[in-house]
Amino acid sequence: MQKRFFLNTVALGLLLAHTGAAMAQEKFKIGLILPMTGPFASTGKQIEAAARLYMAQNGDTVGGKKVELIVKDDTSAPDVTKRIAQELVVNDKVNVLAGFGLTPLALATAPLATQSKTPMVVMAAATSSITQASPYVVRTSFTLPQAAVAMADWAPNNGIKKVVTLVSDYGPGIDAEKYFKDRMLFNGAQVLDTLRVPMRNPDFAPFLQKVRDLKPDALFVFVPSGAGAALMKQFSERGMDKAGIKLIGTGDITDDDILNSMGDVANGVVTSHHYSASHNSPLNKKFVAAFEKANAGLRPNFMAVGGYDGMRVIYEAAKTTKGGNGEALLNAMKGQLFESPRGPMFIDAQTRDVVHNIYIRKVEKVGGQLFNQEFSTIPDVKDPGKTK
Ligand code: PHB
Repeated sequence: MQKRFFLNTVALGLLLAHTGAAMAQEKFKIGLILPMTGPFASTGKQIEAAARLYMAQNGDTVGGKKVELIVKDDTSAPDVTKRIAQELVVNDKVNVLAGFGLTPLALATAPLATQSKTPMVVMAAATSSITQASPYVVRTSFTLPQAAVAMADWAPNNGIKKVVTLVSDYGPGIDAEKYFKDRMLFNGAQVLDTLRVPMRNPDFAPFLQKVRDLKPDALFVFVPSGAGAALMKQFSERGMDKAGIKLIGTGDITDDDILNSMGDVANGVVTSHHYSASHNSPLNKKFVAAFEKANAGLRPNFMAVGGYDGMRVIYEAAKTTKGGNGEALLNAMKGQLFESPRGPMFIDAQTRDVVHNIYIRKVEKVGGQLFNQEFSTIPDVKDPGKTK
């Protein structure tokens, strides 16, 4: 009798040990698809570094499961993003897809998120309509209308009554142009022309010549993160600033990743955006210091913050659902409200889009380095693209 009890106990123990091992092996998989090579590699580098920092700070176990971060390079080609996403869903059985460095990459993947019921956290792409492309999209980056409208409210009150716009000719550029222009007109200012440059390898020279001839008070620019330095260089070479034409835009053109290398031409440029590395909060100071320490002094930009906050949204949803997936995981992402290095941040449960502050900033030298110094805050900005 005693022996039998002993054996049963051993058997139970073995069974429990076995289940325990199986549970410990169960993973929560995050498929992070980013441009790691090519002209938008800085976006991939920033987001990957931020995701790894988040994991280093918050552990690699969540909701009782071991987190596996699978990072893939899509070279910023939409067909590659889509193929990789398919492989991650079908073969790796990821709980969530994340990343998406450019609008076309997010749009190419959205139908797959819908079909496979896989939550898709957009950490970078910023065209308003992306969240409408699939009910499984949740965005932690920003939207161009949020930033553009804020600039169009600031400019006419600060001596800028006549403008020309110059944008990259694709989703976010067209959003920036439309929302900036409409709001400027509403505010009684003049928009002399709206110019669009190719998204890849743009030659700004002929466009800048046209702007010089039109003599606006300011040129409003959107180019995607990574392209701002070339624009600044040509703006200065063409003597635009000397001709009395101010440069304004969304913060994508004074990207923290490369701002310091832009030199004097960037000094004084006013932009509107949701994140600056010099944002004055204890949480941001901690974030910037930890990011720089882990990445050989690299300064985090707004892409890094989109990635960091995206990981926060994923981790918290994984906790709530004990490492779940599909609609349950998606629902646990909706409505999250927290403090981000950018300031207060909210994932609107209705739109699945980000609600956050937009700041007006001016590039200034601080301690010998160029920073976007925030001087005015528009609180809790919803995507204006969603109310139309
Ligand atoms: C986008 O493609 O949606 C995009 C990329 C870079 C930015 C902003 C938007 O800086």
